[in-house]
Amino acid sequence: MKSKIEKYLEEVRSFEADNLEQLEAFRIRFLSKKGLVPALFADFKQVAAEDRKEMGQLINELKKAIQEKIVTLKQQLESKPDNEASGMDLSLPATVQLGTRHPLSIVRNEIIDIFSRIGFNVSEGPEIEDDFHNFTALNFPPNHPARDMQDTFFIEKDPDIALRTHTSSVQVRVMENSKPPIRTISPGRVFRNEAISARAHCIFHQVEGLYIDTGVSFADLKHTLFYFAREMFGENTKTRFRPSYFPFTEPSAEMDISCNICGGKGCNICKYTGWVEILGCGMVDPNVLNACRIDSIKYTGYAFGMGIERIAMLKYQINDLRLFFENDLRFLRQFESAE
Ligand code: DAH
Repeated sequence: MKSKIEKYLEEVRSFEADNLEQLEAFRIRFLSKKGLVPALFADFKQVAAEDRKEMGQLINELKKAIQEKIVTLKQQLESKPDNEASGMDLSLPATVQLGTRHPLSIVRNEIIDIFSRIGFNVSEGPEIEDDFHNFTALNFPPNHPARDMQDTFFIEKDPDIALRTHTSSVQVRVMENSKPPIRTISPGRVFRNEAISARAHCIFHQVEGLYIDTGVSFADLKHTLFYFAREMFGENTKTRFRPSYFPFTEPSAEMDISCNICGGKGCNICKYTGWVEILGCGMVDPNVLNACRIDSIKYTGYAFGMGIERIAMLKYQINDLRLFFENDLRFLRQFESAE
């Protein structure tokens, strides 16, 4: 019996448990009703009287060792984080998936970068605008269709408060709050009451550009936008300006670039014309300068506005605008390597 107890003692002292289940199995092996310790107490009855003291002490020593072992191991296991106790290997290399920049952020940052290289700063304005900044100061006539519920999400009527329909509202705020020379671009989110389709969405993004100084001419506008188009779409990009109309610019134009998909030869993106429209622009109408308390005799300026989705679609050959808003990882992961 003595050698048996000593063998058990040895086993108990060297026992280690990786988890609580192993520790429980250990407890059952020794201390449960049918375990080894009660069995020893049962055998104890047959021990000769002269050995009883020594055997009794030994069995008690074993029992104490087991109980102490259980308490210590239990504390150790419970203080470990769950995943270690449940057998996870935290030393394995991490397989964390890093997020990627959204293609619209990539393109917005690139636009900011291109214009900041020629001295434009970045300005922002509120997404909820009043009628004055979104329409009136921009020379919209009182019954212009954009002022209609059809096109604009109104929040309040009288006074009219709406979600801005374009980032041109930011040029008004910048002109009100600073003195020429002004050279700024204003990226931001805009809202229009449009049915969602592959080509239109009710929420999209624009970048507005504004340059006000003495002697600013249409030639400055053309050259700046020519520089932009080549930086954005490559040095072989051609540009052309078509006359257009916006209430806040006079003269107004739209700029096309040579189709970057077919190189101008004609494809279904450019509808076989070789050209795609990328922005609206023009010389700031003197009425707009006056509404913003800028001397329209002394100063002239140009403005332009482009849709970030449109630029991104052309740059990355994306044919459905809805992809930008669906957050499908299979789409977003394709921009992993872009900055
Ligand atoms: N605000 C116009 C739009 O949303 C875009 C635009 C056109 C902005 C001409 C301008 C501009 O600054 O000069 O369609």
